[in-house]
Amino acid sequence: MAGRWKNTLTENEVTSEADFLNRRQIMAGLAGVGLAGIGGAAQAAPLQPNSWEEITSYNNYYEFGTGKDDPSRNAHTLTTSPWTVKIDGMVDKPGDYDLDDILSKMTIEERIYRFRCVEAWSMVVPWDGFELADLLTLAGVQSGARYVAFETLYRPEEMPGQKAPILDWPYVEGLRLDEAMHPLTIMATGIYGKPMPNQNGAPLRLVVPWKYGFKSIKSVVRITLTDRQPPTTWNKTNAREYGFYSNVNPQVDHPRWSQASERRIGSGLFSKRVPTPMFNGYDEVASLYGGMDLKKNF
Ligand code: MTE
Repeated sequence: MAGRWKNTLTENEVTSEADFLNRRQIMAGLAGVGLAGIGGAAQAAPLQPNSWEEITSYNNYYEFGTGKDDPSRNAHTLTTSPWTVKIDGMVDKPGDYDLDDILSKMTIEERIYRFRCVEAWSMVVPWDGFELADLLTLAGVQSGARYVAFETLYRPEEMPGQKAPILDWPYVEGLRLDEAMHPLTIMATGIYGKPMPNQNGAPLRLVVPWKYGFKSIKSVVRITLTDRQPPTTWNKTNAREYGFYSNVNPQVDHPRWSQASERRIGSGLFSKRVPTPMFNGYDEVASLYGGMDLKKNF
């Protein structure tokens, strides 16, 4: 709900463009005298939302190809209206929900979030969306439910990547129920106040800012409440490399690369790597994992 949760980026964190340019000049001035020392303690990188162009032209959406520029070239073929979301499993009101009906009951707000891909690049995205908790509450979560499973549309005639066995289609993801109910977890419907571009997962995609980007499943058509940990696409593809939790964690490297730092897309001077903070900087979720070994449960 609007105003219920304050922990998005503060105005201090989101520097204005003028301040940002000014800061770049200061940093440029410092560059000769040991810039590497700055940010040695893993802190969130300076936060200037990425441009519309960057956010919508550098994408992962394998249903439209595996190249970063494939989705922006190919995803226009997807029909996103009308759109139905099936909500089923352990809910009081299972059914096929029309997206327009859902949206008429939800509060859309802007959330400026860091977005960290498991491939060690990152952006800052001003999403528009609503809290997943509000949708789950609408459907009525039953007491035995412990996990939420998500499914992307399967429509190979409009999603050419699905004609090849690159992944086990449809793309599926999952969260523990408490992760799904956390106020930071949103279903996004737009970016920069505009409708979600197809390449970013129109018309409705998950965003879980403290987890690697692949958890943020696009073009969602089904949400299932369950008492069992659901299968997830990248875990099925390579369980050694991609765990169920996939919390951003600079201390747990991917078997093939370090996760201690990241490349901020389009960040000019800062395109050198910046340190990656635990939980992508969203420390308030730490309590969800009390007593868990996050190296084992990666
Ligand atoms: N969802 C579907 N259905 N198919 C995908 O290939 N890629 C994931 C995630 N959601 C993906 C997906 C990955 S790896 C990332 S990093 C993000 O989407 C990218 O989101 P963006 O293109 O909006 O930055």
